[in-house]
Amino acid sequence: MARTFYVTTPIYYPDSDLHIGHAYTTVAADAIARWHRLHGAKTFFLTGTDEHAQKIERRARERGQEPAEFVAEMAARIRRLWDRLEIDYDDFIRTSEPRHQRVVQEIFERVYRQGDIYKAHYRGWYCTPCETFWLERRLEEGCCPDCRRQVEFLEEEAYFFRLSGYAGRLLEHIEANPDFIQPPSRRNEMVSFIRGGLEDLCVSRTTLTWGVPVPFDPRHVVYVWFDALTNYLSALGYGSADPADQERYETFWPADLHLVGKEIVRFHAIIWPIILMAAGIPLPRKVYGHGWLILKEGKISKSTGNVIDPLVLVDRYGVDAVRYYLLREIPFGADGQYSEEALVARTDADLANDIGNLLSRTTAMIERFTGGRIPPPGTGDRVLADAAADAREECTRAMDGLQLSVALGAILGAARRGNKYIEEQAPWELAKAGATARLDSVLYDLAELQRVLAVLLKPFLVQASAVIWEQLGVGDITVATHQDLEWGRLVAGTPIKRGKPLFPRIVSKGADR
Ligand code: MSP
Repeated sequence: MARTFYVTTPIYYPDSDLHIGHAYTTVAADAIARWHRLHGAKTFFLTGTDEHAQKIERRARERGQEPAEFVAEMAARIRRLWDRLEIDYDDFIRTSEPRHQRVVQEIFERVYRQGDIYKAHYRGWYCTPCETFWLERRLEEGCCPDCRRQVEFLEEEAYFFRLSGYAGRLLEHIEANPDFIQPPSRRNEMVSFIRGGLEDLCVSRTTLTWGVPVPFDPRHVVYVWFDALTNYLSALGYGSADPADQERYETFWPADLHLVGKEIVRFHAIIWPIILMAAGIPLPRKVYGHGWLILKEGKISKSTGNVIDPLVLVDRYGVDAVRYYLLREIPFGADGQYSEEALVARTDADLANDIGNLLSRTTAMIERFTGGRIPPPGTGDRVLADAAADAREECTRAMDGLQLSVALGAILGAARRGNKYIEEQAPWELAKAGATARLDSVLYDLAELQRVLAVLLKPFLVQASAVIWEQLGVGDITVATHQDLEWGRLVAGTPIKRGKPLFPRIVSKGADR
Protein backbone atom coordinates (compact mmCIF):
# COMPACT_ATOMS: atom_id res chain seq x y z
CA MET A 1 0.00 0.00 0.00
CA ALA A 2 1.21 3.52 -0.85
CA ARG A 3 2.91 5.29 2.04
CA THR A 4 0.95 8.49 1.44
CA PHE A 5 -2.64 8.81 0.39
CA TYR A 6 -4.59 11.92 -0.60
CA VAL A 7 -8.34 11.54 -1.06
CA THR A 8 -10.90 14.25 -1.74
CA THR A 9 -14.67 14.61 -1.81
CA PRO A 10 -16.28 17.14 -4.14
CA ILE A 11 -16.74 20.43 -2.35
CA TYR A 12 -20.44 20.87 -1.68
CA TYR A 13 -22.62 23.79 -2.69
CA PRO A 14 -23.76 25.35 0.57
CA ASP A 15 -27.00 26.67 -0.93
CA SER A 16 -29.16 24.49 1.32
CA ASP A 17 -28.76 21.67 3.79
CA LEU A 18 -27.14 18.53 2.47
CA HIS A 19 -29.10 15.32 2.02
CA ILE A 20 -28.36 11.62 2.16
CA GLY A 21 -26.89 11.62 -1.37
CA HIS A 22 -24.17 14.09 -0.32
CA ALA A 23 -23.57 12.11 2.84
CA TYR A 24 -23.00 9.07 0.65
CA THR A 25 -19.95 10.55 -1.12
CA THR A 26 -18.46 11.82 2.13
CA VAL A 27 -19.03 8.65 4.17
CA ALA A 28 -17.42 6.60 1.42
CA ALA A 29 -14.40 8.91 1.27
CA ASP A 30 -14.12 8.80 5.04
CA ALA A 31 -14.12 5.00 5.13
CA ILE A 32 -11.47 4.90 2.40
CA ALA A 33 -9.31 7.47 4.23
CA ARG A 34 -9.66 5.57 7.52
CA TRP A 35 -8.75 2.31 5.79
CA HIS A 36 -5.50 3.83 4.51
CA ARG A 37 -4.68 5.36 7.89
CA LEU A 38 -5.24 1.99 9.53
CA HIS A 39 -2.72 0.53 7.12
CA GLY A 40 -0.09 3.06 8.04
CA ALA A 41 -0.34 5.43 5.07
CA LYS A 42 0.20 9.09 5.83
CA THR A 43 -3.26 10.19 4.78
CA PHE A 44 -4.82 13.52 3.88
CA PHE A 45 -8.58 13.64 3.55
CA LEU A 46 -10.05 16.85 2.17
CA THR A 47 -13.60 18.09 1.98
CA GLY A 48 -15.16 21.55 1.92
CA THR A 49 -17.63 23.96 0.34
CA ASP A 50 -17.98 25.41 -3.15
CA GLU A 51 -19.25 28.87 -2.33
CA HIS A 52 -19.06 31.01 -5.47
CA ALA A 53 -21.96 29.52 -7.38
CA GLN A 54 -24.50 31.86 -8.91
CA LYS A 55 -27.29 29.91 -7.22
CA ILE A 56 -25.70 30.67 -3.86
CA GLU A 57 -25.58 34.38 -4.46
CA ARG A 58 -29.24 34.27 -5.50
CA ARG A 59 -30.31 32.24 -2.54
CA ALA A 60 -28.51 34.58 -0.11
CA ARG A 61 -30.19 37.62 -1.65
CA GLU A 62 -33.60 35.93 -1.51
CA ARG A 63 -33.05 35.54 2.22
CA GLY A 64 -31.95 39.15 2.50
CA GLN A 65 -28.41 38.17 3.41
CA GLU A 66 -24.99 38.97 2.04
CA PRO A 67 -23.57 35.88 0.30
CA ALA A 68 -20.54 35.81 2.61
CA GLU A 69 -22.72 35.76 5.69
CA PHE A 70 -25.03 33.11 4.26
CA VAL A 71 -22.24 30.73 3.21
CA ALA A 72 -20.52 31.06 6.58
CA GLU A 73 -23.70 29.86 8.29
CA MET A 74 -24.26 27.06 5.81
CA ALA A 75 -20.64 25.86 5.95
CA ALA A 76 -20.94 25.64 9.73
CA ARG A 77 -24.07 23.51 9.34
CA ILE A 78 -22.27 21.21 6.91
CA ARG A 79 -19.39 20.77 9.36
CA ARG A 80 -21.89 19.87 12.08
CA LEU A 81 -23.37 17.23 9.80
CA TRP A 82 -19.92 15.73 9.18
CA ASP A 83 -19.26 15.72 12.90
CA ARG A 84 -22.45 13.79 13.52
CA LEU A 85 -21.46 11.27 10.85
CA GLU A 86 -17.99 11.06 12.44
CA ILE A 87 -16.25 12.20 9.28
CA ASP A 88 -12.58 12.45 10.17
CA TYR A 89 -11.36 14.95 7.57
CA ASP A 90 -7.94 16.59 7.74
CA ASP A 91 -9.01 19.88 6.23
CA PHE A 92 -12.19 21.68 5.28
CA ILE A 93 -11.61 24.17 2.49
CA ARG A 94 -14.01 27.01 1.75
CA THR A 95 -13.57 28.64 -1.64
CA SER A 96 -14.19 32.09 -0.17
CA GLU A 97 -11.01 31.78 1.89
CA PRO A 98 -8.05 33.95 0.83
CA ARG A 99 -5.73 30.90 0.76
CA HIS A 100 -7.92 29.44 -1.99
CA GLN A 101 -8.47 32.63 -3.97
CA ARG A 102 -4.73 33.21 -4.23
CA VAL A 103 -4.27 29.86 -5.97
CA VAL A 104 -7.23 30.33 -8.33
CA GLN A 105 -5.82 33.67 -9.43
CA GLU A 106 -2.32 32.31 -9.81
CA ILE A 107 -3.40 29.41 -12.00
CA PHE A 108 -5.85 31.46 -14.06
CA GLU A 109 -3.16 34.03 -14.75
CA ARG A 110 -0.54 31.45 -15.60
CA VAL A 111 -2.80 29.75 -18.13
CA TYR A 112 -3.72 33.16 -19.58
CA ARG A 113 -0.09 34.29 -19.93
CA GLN A 114 0.83 31.20 -21.86
CA GLY A 115 -2.08 31.73 -24.24
CA ASP A 116 -4.61 29.05 -23.27
CA ILE A 117 -7.12 31.59 -21.95
CA TYR A 118 -8.36 34.27 -24.35
CA LYS A 119 -11.01 36.97 -24.32
CA ALA A 120 -14.12 36.64 -26.50
CA HIS A 121 -17.86 36.90 -26.25
CA TYR A 122 -20.26 34.30 -24.82
CA ARG A 123 -23.67 33.96 -26.36
CA GLY A 124 -25.47 30.90 -25.16
CA TRP A 125 -27.22 29.16 -22.32
CA TYR A 126 -26.47 28.55 -18.67
CA CYS A 127 -27.96 26.02 -16.29
CA THR A 128 -27.77 27.64 -12.86
CA PRO A 129 -28.54 24.49 -10.80
CA CYS A 130 -25.68 22.66 -12.58
CA GLU A 131 -23.57 25.82 -13.04
CA THR A 132 -22.91 24.70 -16.62
CA PHE A 133 -22.73 26.54 -19.95
CA TRP A 134 -24.63 24.89 -22.80
CA LEU A 135 -24.60 25.56 -26.51
CA GLU A 136 -28.02 25.70 -28.13
CA ARG A 137 -27.49 22.44 -30.02
CA ARG A 138 -26.75 20.50 -26.83
CA LEU A 139 -30.04 21.41 -25.14
CA GLU A 140 -32.80 18.84 -24.96
CA GLU A 141 -36.24 20.29 -25.58
CA GLY A 142 -34.83 23.62 -24.53
CA CYS A 143 -33.68 22.26 -21.15
CA CYS A 144 -30.39 21.31 -19.54
CA PRO A 145 -29.43 17.85 -20.86
CA ASP A 146 -28.05 16.90 -17.42
CA CYS A 147 -30.80 17.93 -15.02
CA ARG A 148 -33.63 18.71 -17.47
CA ARG A 149 -34.35 22.06 -15.86
CA GLN A 150 -34.82 25.48 -17.43
CA VAL A 151 -31.70 27.18 -18.77
CA GLU A 152 -31.04 30.93 -18.96
CA PHE A 153 -29.75 32.87 -21.93
CA LEU A 154 -26.45 34.70 -21.36
CA GLU A 155 -24.72 37.20 -23.54
CA GLU A 156 -21.56 38.69 -22.11
CA GLU A 157 -17.89 39.35 -22.65
CA ALA A 158 -15.99 36.37 -21.29
CA TYR A 159 -12.66 34.63 -21.12
CA PHE A 160 -12.43 31.22 -22.75
CA PHE A 161 -10.16 28.31 -21.94
CA ARG A 162 -8.67 26.39 -24.86
CA LEU A 163 -9.92 22.90 -23.97
CA SER A 164 -9.99 21.99 -27.65
CA GLY A 165 -6.21 22.13 -27.90
CA TYR A 166 -5.74 19.40 -25.29
CA ALA A 167 -8.12 16.65 -26.43
CA GLY A 168 -5.36 14.54 -28.00
CA ARG A 169 -3.07 14.74 -24.98
CA LEU A 170 -5.89 13.91 -22.62
CA LEU A 171 -6.93 10.86 -24.66
CA GLU A 172 -3.33 9.64 -24.66
CA HIS A 173 -3.19 10.05 -20.91
CA ILE A 174 -6.41 8.11 -20.40
CA GLU A 175 -5.20 5.31 -22.63
CA ALA A 176 -1.81 5.09 -20.95
CA ASN A 177 -3.36 5.14 -17.46
CA PRO A 178 -6.33 2.77 -17.38
CA ASP A 179 -6.89 3.55 -13.70
CA PHE A 180 -7.22 7.28 -14.24
CA ILE A 181 -10.99 7.20 -14.70
CA GLN A 182 -12.88 4.48 -12.89
CA PRO A 183 -15.06 2.46 -13.03
CA PRO A 184 -14.52 1.47 -16.70
CA SER A 185 -18.06 2.45 -17.72
CA ARG A 186 -17.29 6.08 -16.79
CA ARG A 187 -13.96 5.93 -18.59
CA ASN A 188 -15.72 4.79 -21.75
CA GLU A 189 -18.24 7.61 -21.44
CA MET A 190 -15.45 10.16 -21.07
CA VAL A 191 -13.48 8.77 -23.99
CA SER A 192 -16.47 9.03 -26.31
CA PHE A 193 -17.25 12.50 -25.00
CA ILE A 194 -13.72 13.67 -25.82
CA ARG A 195 -13.75 11.93 -29.19
CA GLY A 196 -16.98 13.79 -29.96
CA GLY A 197 -14.89 16.99 -29.86
CA LEU A 198 -14.12 19.41 -27.04
CA GLU A 199 -15.23 23.00 -27.31
CA ASP A 200 -13.43 25.82 -25.59
CA LEU A 201 -14.94 26.56 -22.19
CA CYS A 202 -16.20 29.87 -20.95
CA VAL A 203 -14.30 30.52 -17.71
CA SER A 204 -15.40 33.95 -16.54
CA ARG A 205 -18.54 35.98 -15.86
CA THR A 206 -19.18 39.71 -15.83
CA THR A 207 -22.82 39.65 -14.74
CA LEU A 208 -21.85 38.41 -11.27
CA THR A 209 -19.68 39.94 -8.60
CA TRP A 210 -19.73 37.01 -6.16
CA GLY A 211 -16.58 35.14 -7.07
CA VAL A 212 -12.82 35.33 -7.44
CA PRO A 213 -11.87 38.36 -9.55
CA VAL A 214 -9.81 37.69 -12.67
CA PRO A 215 -6.50 39.21 -11.51
CA PHE A 216 -5.72 41.15 -14.68
CA ASP A 217 -9.32 42.13 -15.48
CA PRO A 218 -11.32 42.46 -12.26
CA ARG A 219 -14.63 43.20 -14.00
CA HIS A 220 -14.72 39.45 -14.50
CA VAL A 221 -15.05 36.77 -11.87
CA VAL A 222 -13.66 33.30 -12.49
CA TYR A 223 -16.25 30.69 -13.55
CA VAL A 224 -17.29 28.69 -10.51
CA TRP A 225 -16.06 25.29 -11.76
CA PHE A 226 -12.59 26.62 -12.63
CA ASP A 227 -12.54 28.14 -9.15
CA ALA A 228 -13.89 25.04 -7.39
CA LEU A 229 -11.64 22.41 -8.99
CA THR A 230 -8.60 24.34 -7.85
CA ASN A 231 -9.52 23.58 -4.21
CA TYR A 232 -7.69 20.28 -4.45
CA LEU A 233 -4.45 22.21 -4.86
CA SER A 234 -5.15 25.25 -2.72
CA ALA A 235 -5.94 23.15 0.35
CA LEU A 236 -2.44 21.70 0.19
CA GLY A 237 -0.96 25.18 0.12
CA TYR A 238 0.12 25.07 -3.53
CA GLY A 239 2.52 27.85 -4.44
CA SER A 240 2.75 29.16 -0.89
CA ALA A 241 5.99 30.50 0.53
CA ASP A 242 5.35 28.83 3.87
CA PRO A 243 7.60 25.75 4.30
CA ALA A 244 4.80 23.78 6.03
CA ASP A 245 2.57 24.32 2.97
CA GLN A 246 5.37 23.39 0.61
CA GLU A 247 5.96 20.19 2.49
CA ARG A 248 2.27 19.30 2.47
CA TYR A 249 2.09 19.88 -1.26
CA GLU A 250 5.24 17.86 -1.93
CA THR A 251 3.95 15.02 0.24
CA PHE A 252 0.43 14.73 -1.13
CA TRP A 253 0.26 15.96 -4.70
CA PRO A 254 -0.71 14.37 -7.06
CA ALA A 255 -3.94 13.30 -5.36
CA ASP A 256 -4.49 9.56 -5.20
CA LEU A 257 -8.25 9.71 -5.48
CA HIS A 258 -10.89 12.27 -6.37
CA LEU A 259 -14.12 10.63 -5.32
CA VAL A 260 -17.09 12.17 -7.13
CA GLY A 261 -20.66 11.41 -8.14
CA LYS A 262 -21.14 10.28 -11.72
CA GLU A 263 -22.70 13.55 -12.91
CA ILE A 264 -19.52 15.49 -12.19
CA VAL A 265 -16.98 13.03 -13.58
CA ARG A 266 -16.84 15.18 -16.72
CA PHE A 267 -15.54 18.18 -14.78
CA HIS A 268 -12.96 16.09 -12.94
CA ALA A 269 -11.82 13.88 -15.79
CA ILE A 270 -11.76 16.47 -18.59
CA ILE A 271 -11.70 20.07 -17.41
CA TRP A 272 -9.55 19.52 -14.32
CA PRO A 273 -6.78 17.51 -16.01
CA ILE A 274 -6.64 20.05 -18.83
CA ILE A 275 -6.31 22.93 -16.35
CA LEU A 276 -3.44 21.02 -14.74
CA MET A 277 -1.80 20.20 -18.08
CA ALA A 278 -2.00 23.84 -19.12
CA ALA A 279 -0.53 24.93 -15.79
CA GLY A 280 2.22 22.29 -15.94
CA ILE A 281 1.09 20.45 -12.80
CA PRO A 282 0.99 16.63 -12.54
CA LEU A 283 -2.43 14.99 -12.87
CA PRO A 284 -4.28 13.17 -10.09
CA ARG A 285 -3.94 9.39 -10.11
CA LYS A 286 -7.60 8.48 -10.09
CA VAL A 287 -11.05 9.96 -10.55
CA TYR A 288 -13.73 7.55 -9.36
CA GLY A 289 -17.36 8.25 -10.29
CA HIS A 290 -19.77 6.54 -7.95
CA GLY A 291 -23.47 6.02 -8.64
CA TRP A 292 -26.50 7.78 -7.27
CA LEU A 293 -28.86 7.02 -4.48
CA ILE A 294 -32.28 7.22 -6.00
CA LEU A 295 -35.75 7.05 -4.57
CA LYS A 296 -38.66 5.06 -5.95
CA GLU A 297 -39.95 8.41 -7.20
CA GLY A 298 -36.65 9.24 -8.96
CA LYS A 299 -33.44 11.11 -8.13
CA ILE A 300 -33.21 12.78 -4.74
CA SER A 301 -33.48 16.41 -5.54
CA LYS A 302 -33.61 19.63 -3.60
CA SER A 303 -35.92 21.17 -6.16
CA THR A 304 -38.61 18.49 -5.83
CA GLY A 305 -38.33 18.58 -2.05
CA ASN A 306 -37.94 14.80 -1.66
CA VAL A 307 -34.71 15.05 0.31
CA ILE A 308 -33.74 12.72 3.13
CA ASP A 309 -32.05 14.38 6.06
CA PRO A 310 -29.10 12.31 7.28
CA LEU A 311 -29.32 13.95 10.73
CA VAL A 312 -32.79 12.53 11.25
CA LEU A 313 -31.51 9.07 10.33
CA VAL A 314 -28.53 9.36 12.65
CA ASP A 315 -30.82 10.39 15.51
CA ARG A 316 -33.16 7.53 14.79
CA TYR A 317 -30.75 4.67 14.07
CA GLY A 318 -27.27 5.75 15.13
CA VAL A 319 -24.27 6.76 13.07
CA ASP A 320 -22.99 3.26 12.42
CA ALA A 321 -26.29 2.00 11.04
CA VAL A 322 -26.41 4.90 8.56
CA ARG A 323 -22.77 4.53 7.53
CA TYR A 324 -23.14 0.78 7.20
CA TYR A 325 -26.29 0.96 5.15
CA LEU A 326 -24.83 3.48 2.71
CA LEU A 327 -21.68 1.50 2.11
CA ARG A 328 -23.07 -2.03 2.20
CA GLU A 329 -26.37 -1.79 0.39
CA ILE A 330 -25.25 -0.53 -2.99
CA PRO A 331 -22.32 -1.91 -4.98
CA PHE A 332 -20.01 1.08 -5.16
CA GLY A 333 -20.10 2.59 -8.63
CA ALA A 334 -23.69 1.55 -9.39
CA ASP A 335 -26.93 3.40 -8.70
CA GLY A 336 -29.05 2.08 -5.88
CA GLN A 337 -32.47 2.68 -4.50
CA TYR A 338 -32.59 4.27 -1.09
CA SER A 339 -35.30 3.24 1.33
CA GLU A 340 -35.60 3.51 5.07
CA GLU A 341 -37.12 0.01 5.21
CA ALA A 342 -33.95 -1.38 3.65
CA LEU A 343 -31.82 0.54 6.16
CA VAL A 344 -33.79 -0.99 9.01
CA ALA A 345 -33.66 -4.48 7.50
CA ARG A 346 -29.88 -4.24 6.99
CA THR A 347 -29.28 -3.00 10.49
CA ASP A 348 -31.35 -5.75 12.04
CA ALA A 349 -30.04 -8.57 9.87
CA ASP A 350 -26.34 -7.74 9.67
CA LEU A 351 -25.58 -5.53 12.63
CA ALA A 352 -28.01 -6.74 15.32
CA ASN A 353 -28.20 -10.41 14.33
CA ASP A 354 -24.76 -11.19 12.98
CA ILE A 355 -22.34 -8.80 14.65
CA GLY A 356 -24.25 -7.83 17.79
CA ASN A 357 -25.39 -11.35 18.66
CA LEU A 358 -21.97 -12.81 18.17
CA LEU A 359 -20.58 -10.39 20.72
CA SER A 360 -23.33 -10.82 23.28
CA ARG A 361 -23.28 -14.60 23.03
CA THR A 362 -19.51 -14.74 23.33
CA THR A 363 -19.26 -12.37 26.28
CA ALA A 364 -22.16 -14.15 28.04
CA MET A 365 -20.41 -17.49 27.68
CA ILE A 366 -17.07 -16.10 28.85
CA GLU A 367 -18.79 -14.76 31.96
CA ARG A 368 -20.56 -17.98 32.58
CA PHE A 369 -17.88 -20.53 31.78
CA THR A 370 -14.49 -18.89 32.27
CA GLY A 371 -15.07 -16.46 35.13
CA GLY A 372 -15.36 -13.37 32.92
CA ARG A 373 -11.77 -13.64 31.67
CA ILE A 374 -10.41 -14.50 28.23
CA PRO A 375 -9.46 -18.18 28.44
CA PRO A 376 -6.13 -19.53 27.16
CA PRO A 377 -6.00 -20.34 23.44
CA GLY A 378 -6.03 -24.00 22.44
CA THR A 379 -4.35 -25.95 19.74
CA GLY A 380 -7.65 -27.13 18.29
CA ASP A 381 -8.98 -26.32 14.86
CA ARG A 382 -8.17 -23.26 12.73
CA VAL A 383 -11.71 -22.61 11.57
CA LEU A 384 -12.01 -19.09 12.95
CA ALA A 385 -8.36 -18.20 12.40
CA ASP A 386 -8.88 -19.08 8.75
CA ALA A 387 -12.14 -17.15 8.60
CA ALA A 388 -10.36 -14.07 9.96
CA ALA A 389 -7.48 -14.44 7.51
CA ASP A 390 -9.85 -14.87 4.57
CA ALA A 391 -11.89 -11.83 5.62
CA ARG A 392 -8.75 -9.74 5.85
CA GLU A 393 -7.53 -10.84 2.46
CA GLU A 394 -10.86 -10.36 0.73
CA CYS A 395 -11.38 -7.03 2.40
CA THR A 396 -7.98 -5.77 1.30
CA ARG A 397 -8.54 -6.86 -2.26
CA ALA A 398 -11.97 -5.24 -2.30
CA MET A 399 -10.72 -1.96 -0.83
CA ASP A 400 -7.91 -1.82 -3.39
CA GLY A 401 -10.63 -1.81 -6.06
CA LEU A 402 -12.91 0.53 -4.04
CA GLN A 403 -15.51 -2.21 -3.69
CA LEU A 404 -16.66 -1.05 -0.27
CA SER A 405 -19.74 -3.19 -0.23
CA VAL A 406 -17.72 -6.32 -1.03
CA ALA A 407 -15.27 -5.47 1.76
CA LEU A 408 -18.10 -5.24 4.28
CA GLY A 409 -19.62 -8.45 2.92
CA ALA A 410 -16.36 -10.26 3.64
CA ILE A 411 -16.34 -9.09 7.27
CA LEU A 412 -19.97 -10.05 7.72
CA GLY A 413 -19.26 -13.48 6.25
CA ALA A 414 -16.66 -14.09 8.94
CA ALA A 415 -19.05 -12.93 11.68
CA ARG A 416 -21.65 -15.38 10.37
CA ARG A 417 -19.04 -18.10 10.43
CA GLY A 418 -18.49 -17.25 14.11
CA ASN A 419 -22.18 -17.64 14.91
CA LYS A 420 -22.29 -20.93 13.07
CA TYR A 421 -19.23 -22.10 14.99
CA ILE A 422 -21.10 -21.53 18.25
CA GLU A 423 -23.86 -23.81 17.03
CA GLU A 424 -21.41 -26.45 15.84
CA GLN A 425 -19.27 -26.46 18.96
CA ALA A 426 -22.11 -25.99 21.49
CA PRO A 427 -19.88 -24.63 24.26
CA TRP A 428 -22.63 -25.32 26.84
CA GLU A 429 -22.30 -29.04 26.03
CA LEU A 430 -18.52 -28.83 26.36
CA ALA A 431 -19.00 -27.20 29.78
CA LYS A 432 -21.43 -29.91 30.84
CA ALA A 433 -19.01 -32.61 29.73
CA GLY A 434 -16.10 -30.93 31.55
CA ALA A 435 -14.12 -30.59 28.29
CA THR A 436 -12.31 -27.52 29.64
CA ALA A 437 -9.41 -27.33 27.20
CA ARG A 438 -11.75 -27.56 24.23
CA LEU A 439 -14.17 -25.06 25.74
CA ASP A 440 -11.32 -22.59 26.37
CA SER A 441 -10.12 -22.97 22.82
CA VAL A 442 -13.58 -22.35 21.34
CA LEU A 443 -14.21 -19.26 23.47
CA TYR A 444 -10.75 -17.85 22.88
CA ASP A 445 -11.17 -18.19 19.13
CA LEU A 446 -14.60 -16.56 19.21
CA ALA A 447 -13.26 -13.58 21.13
CA GLU A 448 -10.15 -13.38 18.98
CA LEU A 449 -12.20 -13.47 15.77
CA GLN A 450 -14.13 -10.44 16.95
CA ARG A 451 -11.03 -8.60 18.08
CA VAL A 452 -9.71 -8.94 14.51
CA LEU A 453 -13.04 -8.19 12.83
CA ALA A 454 -13.38 -5.01 14.91
CA VAL A 455 -10.10 -3.77 13.43
CA LEU A 456 -11.36 -4.47 9.92
CA LEU A 457 -14.62 -2.72 10.78
CA LYS A 458 -12.94 0.33 12.27
CA PRO A 459 -13.04 2.43 9.07
CA PHE A 460 -16.77 1.73 8.66
CA LEU A 461 -18.45 1.22 12.04
CA VAL A 462 -16.63 3.87 14.00
CA GLN A 463 -18.53 3.42 17.25
CA ALA A 464 -19.33 -0.29 17.30
CA SER A 465 -15.74 -1.32 16.54
CA ALA A 466 -14.64 0.56 19.67
CA VAL A 467 -17.37 -1.07 21.76
CA ILE A 468 -16.32 -4.55 20.60
CA TRP A 469 -12.78 -3.93 21.83
CA GLU A 470 -14.04 -2.46 25.09
CA GLN A 471 -16.35 -5.36 25.81
CA LEU A 472 -13.62 -7.89 25.04
CA GLY A 473 -11.34 -5.98 27.41
CA VAL A 474 -8.79 -5.34 24.63
CA GLY A 475 -8.56 -1.58 25.20
CA ASP A 476 -8.87 1.52 23.09
CA ILE A 477 -9.31 0.75 19.39
CA THR A 478 -8.32 4.25 18.30
CA VAL A 479 -4.69 3.20 18.57
CA ALA A 480 -5.17 -0.04 16.59
CA THR A 481 -3.14 -0.52 13.42
CA HIS A 482 -3.05 -3.18 10.72
CA GLN A 483 -0.64 -5.11 12.95
CA ASP A 484 -3.60 -5.77 15.18
CA LEU A 485 -5.05 -7.87 12.39
CA GLU A 486 -2.62 -10.63 13.27
CA TRP A 487 -4.25 -13.66 14.82
CA GLY A 488 -3.41 -14.55 18.42
CA ARG A 489 -2.82 -11.15 20.01
CA LEU A 490 -5.63 -11.46 22.52
CA VAL A 491 -4.11 -12.07 25.96
CA ALA A 492 -5.48 -14.92 28.07
CA GLY A 493 -6.66 -13.79 31.50
CA THR A 494 -7.90 -10.38 30.25
CA PRO A 495 -11.11 -9.47 32.07
CA ILE A 496 -13.97 -8.76 29.69
CA LYS A 497 -16.54 -5.99 30.23
CA ARG A 498 -19.85 -7.28 29.08
CA GLY A 499 -22.15 -4.41 28.14
CA LYS A 500 -25.37 -3.45 26.46
CA PRO A 501 -26.30 -5.01 23.08
CA LEU A 502 -24.28 -3.41 20.28
CA PHE A 503 -27.26 -2.96 17.97
CA PRO A 504 -30.67 -3.42 19.58
CA ARG A 505 -33.14 -4.65 16.99
CA ILE A 506 -35.04 -1.78 15.39
CA VAL A 507 -38.15 -3.47 14.10
CA SER A 508 -39.43 -4.20 17.59
CA LYS A 509 -39.11 -0.47 18.27
CA GLY A 510 -41.52 0.24 15.43
CA ALA A 511 -40.01 2.26 12.61
CA ASP A 512 -42.48 4.63 11.04
CA ARG A 513 -41.52 4.31 7.39
N1 MSP B 1 -19.96 21.85 -6.02
C1 MSP B 1 -19.97 20.78 -6.95
C2 MSP B 1 -18.70 19.97 -6.83
C3 MSP B 1 -17.43 20.73 -7.03
S1 MSP B 1 -16.04 19.75 -6.82
C4 MSP B 1 -14.76 20.65 -7.35
C5 MSP B 1 -21.15 19.86 -6.66
N2 MSP B 1 -21.69 19.96 -5.47
S2 MSP B 1 -22.99 19.19 -4.99
O1 MSP B 1 -23.22 19.66 -3.64
O2 MSP B 1 -24.05 19.40 -5.91
O3 MSP B 1 -22.73 17.66 -5.04
C6 MSP B 1 -21.65 17.07 -4.41
C7 MSP B 1 -21.66 15.57 -4.47
O4 MSP B 1 -22.85 15.01 -3.93
C8 MSP B 1 -21.53 14.99 -5.88
O5 MSP B 1 -20.49 14.01 -5.88
C9 MSP B 1 -22.84 14.34 -6.11
O6 MSP B 1 -22.75 13.25 -6.95
C10 MSP B 1 -23.23 13.92 -4.72
N3 MSP B 1 -24.64 13.66 -4.68
C11 MSP B 1 -25.68 14.54 -4.66
N4 MSP B 1 -26.85 13.85 -4.74
C12 MSP B 1 -26.59 12.52 -4.83
C13 MSP B 1 -27.36 11.36 -4.82
N5 MSP B 1 -28.68 11.39 -4.83
N6 MSP B 1 -26.71 10.17 -4.79
C14 MSP B 1 -25.35 10.08 -4.70
N7 MSP B 1 -24.59 11.16 -4.71
C15 MSP B 1 -25.17 12.38 -4.91
O7 MSP B 1 -21.52 19.10 -7.53
